[in-house]
Amino acid sequence: MRILAIETSCDETAIAITDFLGTRKRPRIRVRSHIVLSQIKLHTKFGGVVPNLAKREHQRNLVPILLSVLKESRLLKSKIKNQKSKLQFKIKNIEKILEREPELLLRFKKYIVPLAKPNIDAIAVTYGPGLAPALWVGVNFAKALSALWNAPIIPVNHMAGHLYSAFLHKSGIKNFQFPALALLVSGGHTELVLMRGYGKYKVIGETLDDAAGEAFDKVARLLGLGYPGGPHIAVLSQYAQTHAEKYADTRRNFLRDSALRQRSSAREPKLPRPMMNTKDYNFSFSGLKTAVLYLLRDHPELLRSKFGKAVVAKEFQDAVVEVLVAKTIRAAKEYKTKTILLGGGVAANRSLREELIKNLQKELPKAVCWMPEAVLTGDNALMIALAAFFEKKKPIKDYTKFSAEANLRLS
Ligand code: KG4
Ligand code: ZN
Repeated sequence: MRILAIETSCDETAIAITDFLGTRKRPRIRVRSHIVLSQIKLHTKFGGVVPNLAKREHQRNLVPILLSVLKESRLLKSKIKNQKSKLQFKIKNIEKILEREPELLLRFKKYIVPLAKPNIDAIAVTYGPGLAPALWVGVNFAKALSALWNAPIIPVNHMAGHLYSAFLHKSGIKNFQFPALALLVSGGHTELVLMRGYGKYKVIGETLDDAAGEAFDKVARLLGLGYPGGPHIAVLSQYAQTHAEKYADTRRNFLRDSALRQRSSAREPKLPRPMMNTKDYNFSFSGLKTAVLYLLRDHPELLRSKFGKAVVAKEFQDAVVEVLVAKTIRAAKEYKTKTILLGGGVAANRSLREELIKNLQKELPKAVCWMPEAVLTGDNALMIALAAFFEKKKPIKDYTKFSAEANLRLS
């Protein structure tokens, strides 16, 4: 099965072409081409993703990326004979599908319509959750391709994509046993998902306010760092860690009697660990961000040096990681899960990866943990192809039968 996959739920425009052979238990996969174009530089000056700007960029980028992916996959061929009347009818449909994406329509007619149909079996596309204007561009692009090439569509949940991103490694696809538990941590979501089989998901916990990645971004902004904040916080935390002695000193001096001391019995000042001890598997990160805000208000000197910022970054990162790891392990124990998966942009965080593995080895030594390779932690289309293959949902022949769903859930 050859899948062309499209992802445009946020600020990455991504397309992949992947061949899947074998069964889900023993799959063989060949990635023919997989391109991700990030718009981050454009959104950075606004301190976050601007939905309509993302929509404009997706419109501009989809056609050139598709041409590159087809070329790299050796599937780019111009049409030999032109069945004009049939094509006219199709173009009318495509004009209707892309009426809200005029810039994309222009490029589509100029560069995609003249191509011979490439040899693909289905088009997988992210239809939610995400930013509605961004999602619609990808969904309508998939519909237009489906109309032009008579190819069926497989709608994919973006979070399922992040979940399956942990399956693919250089050595091939990882095999694992159910029940599995996935910790999905991205800019928009923080979820613990119980998986009893391929496509059988139950969200057993989620954030009640900010997502983990969102908290990283907001705290980074408080520290005057760039967007997205996660990588900046991670680098600064690492900086604090490599200067352990200085870190300990600074921490003592600055944080001794600050707002960080949450419990009077605590010897060491600490940021709060929100919802760490609640019985459910939900999370909350907005209070943590507020605690950092108060800390910086009380100790503005922390903002004056790189090291001061690094101390705050590390304190914050430690708090997020500790809560994520503790709740994941508790859920894995309760549901007796055999496999633990990690996915989403925050899965790039080294401290999260290391702490999760360290604590799993200690507390659940028999459980197996799969994490995505660094290039697959952020949004990409390869994970959408993987989800389409593993979920085995029946492809939709009639493209009018589905639409983008910004608030789509896994269960
Ligand atoms: O999954 P993703 O690429 O996009 C969404 O679907 O949201 O996740 C983006 C999020 C951002 O909030 C970003 O700050 C965070 O992932 N992130 C990180 C790291 N790299 C990216 N957070 C912590 N540590 C990182 N190394
Ligand atoms: Zn994502």
